[in-house]
Amino acid sequence: MKRLLLISTLLLFFACQKSVNMQQVESPDGTLSLTFRLNEGAPEYEVARFNRTIINPSKLGFVLKEADSLTSFRVTNSALTSFDETWTQVWGEKKEIRNHYNELRVQLQEINRPRRKMTVVFRLFDDGLGFRYELPEQPNLATFDIMDELTEFNLADDATAWWIPAYGWNRYEYLYQATKTSELDTVHTPVTFETPNGLFLSIHEAALTDYASMTLRNIGGTALKADLVPWSDGVRVKAQTPMVTPWRTIQIADDAGGLITSCLILNLNEPNKLEDTSWIKPAKYVGIWWDMHLNTATWGSGPMHGATTERTMRYIDFAAKYGFAGVLVEGWNIGWDGDWVKYGDGFQFTAPYPDFDIEKVTRYAAEKGVQLIGHNETGAAVLNYEKQLQDAFQFYEKLGVHVVKTGYVGNDPSIKRIDEKGEEQWEWHHGQFMVRHYRKVIEEAARHNIMLDVHEPIKDTGIRRTYPNMMTREGARGQEYHAWDPDGGNPPDHETILPFTRLLAGPMDFTPGIFDLLFDRARPNNRVNTTLAKQLALYVVLYSPLHMAADLPENYEANRKPFQFILDVPTDWQDTRVLHARIGDYVTIVRQDRHSDDWYLGSVTDENGRNLQTTLSFLEPNLRYVAEIYRDGADADWQANPYSIEIIEMLVTQNSNLTLRLAPGGGQAIRFRKASEADVQRLSR
Ligand code: NOJ
Ligand code: CA
Repeated sequence: MKRLLLISTLLLFFACQKSVNMQQVESPDGTLSLTFRLNEGAPEYEVARFNRTIINPSKLGFVLKEADSLTSFRVTNSALTSFDETWTQVWGEKKEIRNHYNELRVQLQEINRPRRKMTVVFRLFDDGLGFRYELPEQPNLATFDIMDELTEFNLADDATAWWIPAYGWNRYEYLYQATKTSELDTVHTPVTFETPNGLFLSIHEAALTDYASMTLRNIGGTALKADLVPWSDGVRVKAQTPMVTPWRTIQIADDAGGLITSCLILNLNEPNKLEDTSWIKPAKYVGIWWDMHLNTATWGSGPMHGATTERTMRYIDFAAKYGFAGVLVEGWNIGWDGDWVKYGDGFQFTAPYPDFDIEKVTRYAAEKGVQLIGHNETGAAVLNYEKQLQDAFQFYEKLGVHVVKTGYVGNDPSIKRIDEKGEEQWEWHHGQFMVRHYRKVIEEAARHNIMLDVHEPIKDTGIRRTYPNMMTREGARGQEYHAWDPDGGNPPDHETILPFTRLLAGPMDFTPGIFDLLFDRARPNNRVNTTLAKQLALYVVLYSPLHMAADLPENYEANRKPFQFILDVPTDWQDTRVLHARIGDYVTIVRQDRHSDDWYLGSVTDENGRNLQTTLSFLEPNLRYVAEIYRDGADADWQANPYSIEIIEMLVTQNSNLTLRLAPGGGQAIRFRKASEADVQRLSR
């Protein structure tokens, strides 16, 4: 009897141990489930979708400099909670966003001394999950250096991955490649996967605010491990408790379009911190910009200087005539003469060149109802910029400038920092030093009612939810590569990959809308590798709250009809849906205007022409719409005949079937507006 009691007590003990050491959480509708467990004290997690494992047991934890690894624990407490709320975006691809998840918090304490505490928080949504570490304030952990984060993503399948390399000199500006996961080296996030069973995954992070960027390193087979971009001294993160890491995110969908419509990254960011957002306005802009990329004007001073008072006033006239909100002017300030990529320290952010009368220009713009868009190219000389940051934004604010484009051109690791010993160090664009810098700029900009468009940025992790003045950024190869890259620019499939990779992180300032596709005289060895209609489709396909009409005014005046689409297309949406999605082949996106009943469609293809069928079930029932269609001509071809475009109108309803004809390297753009009686009369004839 005594023995039996002992055995049952032991059994009970082991059962408790097991339940303490293993926790589970499911997503609200049960699609996803996650298991957390301690494997001989080492924390790990595992993810299944409809009971099929998609992430095999994967490690969690840290290596610190000051003491041993944070890797051997017992569970002290765990809690399951649920959350369901719908919030409104200040601007975006979708107005109302549902944030619905189940959360598992597991509190851990080291088994051995110094018995430090760590919490892992998992949030399971139906379309993916996020998890992060919290290191609470505690006697045995105050200030510390993270030498490694042990987080793994041990993928169950050898999926096809779309990726760009990490630690390259050109930051995020590489063409995406597709290989097996097992063939990856070290890559940036977001990285997107298609499994052999047709499941789509994207690994990224959310709320990167004071930490190093996470890249992913292949550690054998299909196992990927967090590789935090280090400081020049090898430390990955300099931290102090209390600390929370960014969320490590895995978005999961049955079709590639589901990744595009997922709001998981935004949901894992803190709510808006700005009380007054009335000054934050999505918009379209033109600028003194493409000329410099074509080398028909210069940023620096001299006879070809682009940013002159007179030229800017002409651009303001053009913007006012067509209703553009802003005129970007680059090369307006002292610092561009000489090798500014190497020596950005010469940039002065409140000193215009003598032939640019900024007071006159901003006064003129105000009279015309247009705003100057400021430009701060730093040449990656961040210390020089930080010294002037407050003055720069104060200067702009006084002049009524509410949008500033920043830039950090420099070959990575190119950020100069002065260390504690007074010595020069060179940092990566994506390390903690720069994460802090970019964040500082957002906060300072907000204090001066300034919206930001950041080029050569830190990757987007959804900070726009918290600081909605952080509008858009580059962080990929944009249109500019067509102007000058010796490799011939972006291949036709580039824009069919971006929506499923870079754009999953957030909006991109791609600068679409080039109409003079060949520019033979300016740059005979380069051209834009799309048809004209595809340039229009990009305004819908590639979301940005600030979209540029990037070409020269004369090229728009000479092509008034296709230009109409650029004038009409909004930059702020009520809703977004994906009609066709095959990564690297084609994509069709429709979006509903936030301020009218109009819908817009953008569809783009790679080097292959195709016909895509669609219904229009997104339109309101029992109503007639005019479809204003901008499509490739029957003979269009990006190489041989890129200008061939057909612009037609047609009456449609929710029940209409449309065939989207896309030429090789082509695209199609459509505006759907409610038909008036006159439209019906005119178009049914
Ligand atoms: C690179 C940016 O992407 C481009 O838009 C800008 O014109 C140049 N840097 C100069 O700042
Ligand atoms: Ca760039």
